[in-house]
Amino acid sequence: MANSNQETIYEALGGAGGVRKLVEAFYPIVLENELLSPHFAQSDIEDVIEKQYLFLTQFFGGPFLYSDRYGHPMMRARHMHIPLTPELAEAWLSCMGQALNRTGVPSPLREAVLERLSAPAYHFINTPSKE
Ligand code: HEM
Repeated sequence: MANSNQETIYEALGGAGGVRKLVEAFYPIVLENELLSPHFAQSDIEDVIEKQYLFLTQFFGGPFLYSDRYGHPMMRARHMHIPLTPELAEAWLSCMGQALNRTGVPSPLREAVLERLSAPAYHFINTPSKE
């Protein structure tokens, strides 16, 4: 197959260690973001980090760790209890951009990761912008 030896984002990030480093950099940034942090006020952040590590591993082309443990991701449904506005999606992606910077992920991989995550982030929007 023509694309069979094309590197996945998972591999480009350095596999398990790279995804773990990114996710561990991401949530402290999220918790400092004034739009996002209230939504994680009741969260066990270590548990969220672990789930995000499992999910992004498979989302970026690695082993299906999240589905093996939790079944079909249904990620939009899992975000339905959050009134998710375009501003929240932008804030989430901006935090991810900062996490990519902090972990030293170079361009163009940095942009490829953000582009890949933009699709679900905007897809999860379920509430219009606040006036
Ligand atoms: C668009 C803005 C987003 C917001 C505001 C947001 C917010 C949240 C919140 C509040 C939780 C619940 C945390 C808890 O269980 O205590 C959560 C869970 C989660 N989010 Fe997001 N999220 C966003 C986008 C994304 C994106 C783009 C992805 C991945 C592509 C993602 C993946 C996850 C995962 C894997 C979980 C854990 C699901 C589970 O309970 O098994 N989120 N998110």
